[in-house]
Amino acid sequence: MRAIILNRLHEPPDFAEAKIPEITDSEVLVKLKAAALNHRDVWVQKGLYPGMKLPCILGSDGAGTVEKVGRFVSNEWFEKEVIINPGLNWGENALVAGKEFNILGMPKDGCFAEYVKIDQKYLYEKPLHLNFAEAAAIPLAGVTAYRALFTQSNLKKGEKVLITGIGGGVAIQTLLFARVLGCEVYVTSGSDEKIRKAVSLGATGGINYKLENWHKALFKEAGNFDVIIDSAGGENFGKLIDLAAPAGRITFYGGTSGNIGNIIPSKVFFKQLTIKGTTMGSSEDFQLMVDFVNQNKIKPVIDQVFPIKETEAALTKMENGDQFGKIVVKI
Ligand SMILES: NC(=O)c1ccc[n+]([C@@H]2O[C@H](COP(=O)([O-])OP(=O)(O)OC[C@H]3O[C@@H](n4cnc5c(N)ncnc54)[C@H](OP(=O)(O)O)[C@@H]3O)[C@@H](O)[C@H]2O)c1
Repeated sequence: MRAIILNRLHEPPDFAEAKIPEITDSEVLVKLKAAALNHRDVWVQKGLYPGMKLPCILGSDGAGTVEKVGRFVSNEWFEKEVIINPGLNWGENALVAGKEFNILGMPKDGCFAEYVKIDQKYLYEKPLHLNFAEAAAIPLAGVTAYRALFTQSNLKKGEKVLITGIGGGVAIQTLLFARVLGCEVYVTSGSDEKIRKAVSLGATGGINYKLENWHKALFKEAGNFDVIIDSAGGENFGKLIDLAAPAGRITFYGGTSGNIGNIIPSKVFFKQLTIKGTTMGSSEDFQLMVDFVNQNKIKPVIDQVFPIKETEAALTKMENGDQFGKIVVKI
């Protein structure tokens, strides 16, 4: 089969021949139709991910058709259209993933390939209202957004939400999910154009985080926020604390802008804020997310679809932050 294989760090991955994976009794072989990029693929390419192991086929998100089932797998899965939960071995504790947790697409070979093998327990039926490209765009970003908003931030109908860096794949899913609950959502972005696009998706407004004192301008326009979802960290994180409402919840899943070093303790404890980290989600989160997407017929926002042989151009686009929504690879 043809696959996108990362053989060396800091160099483009190779589009090369690889062996079709051999399945075990509890696994299935999925013939992939589409895969989607996550920022993780860029971090891995640069060696900036824990537990690096090369060579590896990149890609955490995939959608396709089950072509072969292992001896212990129900035949009902045969020829089913599926998506894959890329969060492997979460473990027993719903509050946090265990030591064995890892993500499909390094160290285990991922979805930028014609085939991927996966244990049956990570298979979910493809939502009927989505085509393969849309379905591939859901899993990693969807479960991260779902857990951040609902499991970790306990978002309630009608609350006011701020989502930072709205151009990101996870951020846009977060916007779509929060809007389903009728929440008023504001966004930040480094691009005014992306803020306009977010408004067309249901955000009430937004502000460019490159402006000096952007948080003061946003407060004037929107006031405080019950829930803030962040993936940037960095020096702007302290401003999120100013923007949080009393008893507000700030949940973050990324550190794109680096370390957080400017938190004034009294601002957190007087307002009784909850600041939480979150990472992807448990199998239960994933099932709830898929149900939520199905029930509300949510369609992810796709920025661009690249043919698999142009995956390197797709990774460069993601690294440059030019996208609005998910970047998809057609297989
Ligand atoms: N812990 C987890 O489970 C988990 C899961 C998924 C992702 N992540 C992490 O979360 C981050 C985003 O992932 P992704 O896949 O959604 O990436 P992505 O699609 O590449 O999006 C990255 C976004 O970060 C935003 N950004 C850049 N600088 C920023 C700043 N100074 N302030 C606010 N936002 C800024 C940009 O938004 P604008 O273009 O609007 O400026 C950009 O679109 C990455 O660091 C990734 O590793 C973690």
